[in-house]
Amino acid sequence: MLVTLIRRYSKPYLPHILAVLLFQLASTIATLYLPSLNAKIIDEGVSHGDTDYIWRTGALMLVVAIGQIATAIAAVYFGARTAMAMGRDLRRDVFRKVSSFSAKDVNSFGAPTLITRGTNDVQQVQMLMLMGLNFMVSTPIMCFGGIVMALQEDLSLSWLVWVSVPVLVAVVGYLVVRLMPLFRSMQKKIDAINGVLREQIIGIRVVRAFVREPYEASRFGDANRDLTQVSVKIGNLFVLMFPAIGMILHLSTAAVLWFGGQRVDSGEMQVGALTAFLQYLLQILIAVMMGTFMAMMIPRASVCADRIGEVLDVEPSIHDPESPVKPAERKGRVEFRDVTFKYPGAEAPVLSNVSFTAEPGQTLAIIGSTGAGKTTLVSLLPRLYDVASGEVLLDGVPVTQLDRDEISSRVATVPQKPYLFSGTIEHNLRFGKTDATEEELWDALETAQAKDFVQEKASGLNRRVAQGGTNVSGGQRQRLCIARALVTRPKVYLFDDSFSALDVATDARLRKALKDKTRDATVIIVAQRVSTIADADQILVLDNGRIVDRGTHDELLETSPTYQEIVESQLSVEEVA
Ligand code: CTP
Ligand code: MG
Repeated sequence: MLVTLIRRYSKPYLPHILAVLLFQLASTIATLYLPSLNAKIIDEGVSHGDTDYIWRTGALMLVVAIGQIATAIAAVYFGARTAMAMGRDLRRDVFRKVSSFSAKDVNSFGAPTLITRGTNDVQQVQMLMLMGLNFMVSTPIMCFGGIVMALQEDLSLSWLVWVSVPVLVAVVGYLVVRLMPLFRSMQKKIDAINGVLREQIIGIRVVRAFVREPYEASRFGDANRDLTQVSVKIGNLFVLMFPAIGMILHLSTAAVLWFGGQRVDSGEMQVGALTAFLQYLLQILIAVMMGTFMAMMIPRASVCADRIGEVLDVEPSIHDPESPVKPAERKGRVEFRDVTFKYPGAEAPVLSNVSFTAEPGQTLAIIGSTGAGKTTLVSLLPRLYDVASGEVLLDGVPVTQLDRDEISSRVATVPQKPYLFSGTIEHNLRFGKTDATEEELWDALETAQAKDFVQEKASGLNRRVAQGGTNVSGGQRQRLCIARALVTRPKVYLFDDSFSALDVATDARLRKALKDKTRDATVIIVAQRVSTIADADQILVLDNGRIVDRGTHDELLETSPTYQEIVESQLSVEEVA
């Protein structure tokens, strides 16, 4: 997967990458050239007292050094830009993919791991791309070029290279092999931390209300400790790594000076050649070390790439049809034909053999105990889920044959759990219709009985809304969601228990205002309160996923025991009140 990802995302940047590699090459060659110039100055200039030679070679050395610095800076600068751009593209694609997921797809991963994959995992891959661009060319050239140059300086010391390089590879390699499984488990622990943290932040009110802080703190503590343990193990190995590398480098230096010194003593080698040999050996060892570090990043990045690949490879379980049907009419007629639905992984169906028709200009109400399947039922029309068997039709066309844009332009949902996005009230209201005029927005707010509380504050439509809408009351949030649906002027309204947080008087006023606005539209209302739906044209009584009775309020009062029960339970509550 890693290779596929890198290949795919480097394609648009091939010219940039080539440029980086060329800079890299130039800078490496310059680096390799410098010690030999240095040796020449010492051995031919200083030892013969040739000032002219020293000046000339010194000037050349200066030019090479400046060139080396310039190309190195260019390589790192453009390398970083290119790697970051590739990371940005990858992150963008992960985000787009996740946005196309259906509820089922999101659930099959879980939100926390999707967040880690879109952020931390992408970053690991990006890091490898950066390292690759910075060291891919320079490391092997530095290593082999260094060996060639060192041998040119002095052949008989070459055994030092053959000893120190394998020792370094062995030591660093051993540590890297120990590190790899730790990195793998680290990614999982980060997922776990994200999961716990996310849940606690979202549920903070509940945690407070039930005084669960100690328990939640200990749950977070466990996840945190897990992560710490892995990190400490990794740290321990790194602690070993640097002294080990240091020791090998210093022992090599000592050996070069020791054996080289003897050769200089006996006149077989010059001092300059000795310094150059020493510098080459260090360059080789550093290159080997860098190579091993890179090799170490590959397994971690490849774990991350696999995790990203899993997300990118998902074929969203709900997608637009290949050749969508353009409906002949757009009236908003909704029909369910013998619909059965099962949640993924569940054994029993949540909805069985549900059939009904909702006509434009009419109000269809659905009532039933909690867990009866009401929310599930209304989520089938906008295709949050697809049916197991049967058909859901919009204006006579199965929703599976319609573009989802087509559906959402005709169907507006007010979800049971009202959700607002961070931004302003205006930005939220324009969600379904970006070009709505200010007048339309106020009109919708008025119908939704939300005008007063929006006007109340000087900021009006520009009032800030926190993520999820947590800085307005539950009832206000519900009314803003209703207004948001009204702004789009859809053909079909789905109100899922959208009046539950309103007091009875506001509820009545809102429904009266709605009636005028939705005269030609199909209105489907899910409700708990009988008073909310008493004047509906048709009421479905849902019990355990089946429609047990249907009719108007008056008919059901006569014929339906389930409906009578619901009415009685609520009457007694209201009477007592
Ligand atoms: N369910 C499920 N998986 C989900 C959502 C719901 O298995 N992601 C199950 C629930 O356990 C419930 C049934 O589906 O038994 C119906 O859920 P729902 O349609 O949400 O019930 P409602 O009638 O909307 O209940 P309420 O009045 O509480 O909103
Ligand atoms: Mg519900």
